[in-house]
Amino acid sequence: MTLEDQINKSNLPRHLAIIMDGNGRWAKQKGLLRALGHESGTKAVRETVESCAKLGIQNLTLYAFSTENWNRPKLEVDTLMNLLIKSLKDELKTLQKNEIKLNSIGNLSLLPKSAQNELLEVINKTKENNRMTLTLALSYGSREELVSAIKVISDKVKNNIISSETIDETIINQHLYTHNLPDVDLLIRTSGEHRISNFLLWQIAYAELYFTDVLWPDFREENLYEAIISYQKRERRFGKTSEQIK
Ligand code: IPE
Ligand code: IPE
Ligand code: MG
Repeated sequence: MTLEDQINKSNLPRHLAIIMDGNGRWAKQKGLLRALGHESGTKAVRETVESCAKLGIQNLTLYAFSTENWNRPKLEVDTLMNLLIKSLKDELKTLQKNEIKLNSIGNLSLLPKSAQNELLEVINKTKENNRMTLTLALSYGSREELVSAIKVISDKVKNNIISSETIDETIINQHLYTHNLPDVDLLIRTSGEHRISNFLLWQIAYAELYFTDVLWPDFREENLYEAIISYQKRERRFGKTSEQIK
């Protein structure tokens, strides 16, 4: 039986999120510039996106650039932004072919204008697609997301639009960048790092975590299948006892 055959299509994560890490180390191991690691990483992005759509995953969120990544050397930041623009241009046809809707989360106003424009254009052109929603986390930081949500909510309280008593988890959810996405079911991080790096802190409250040593540019369809098979073997109890679940 192939790995793909082992996947139960009726128990897929509704929302899969991936911290795509290890591009720099991949390049270093090969004696290449970090930029080439990022470029190779885009191939893994394409393959993963197509595999997820093919499997029937409804929501895929990729951590592409964090608020902290702005602190990298300017040359690397510029490389990543140019790669983003190029990928958006190149991948529009892949998105259309696979009926994928593009979405983005993060403080997009910090991106170069050309990247913002390209992003908005692809989001607009793919807005009617509904096989899968692909969300790119760009200039994204979970703490920043929570701070801006709290600011908006407190303004609404101040202006009597809502009362503080009505603030609940639903209201908080509605003010996050991810307001139209379900909670994350499965979070994958590549490259052997066991940390969250300010990604979707609220949304992963009950996610299953999967860590692999594979560096992102080497991440293939089989690695995705292995992660999903691992996810499907787990018992998600949400605080209940095992007996209650069965
Ligand atoms: C992930 O790879 C890509 C981004 C964070 C933009 P890295 O660039 O972090 O690669 P490593 O961790 O240095 O190997
Ligand atoms: C997290 O990777 C951000 C992305 C994958 C875009 P980093 O490589 O920036 O994370 P840290 O700083 O090593 O935790
Ligand atoms: Mg890294």
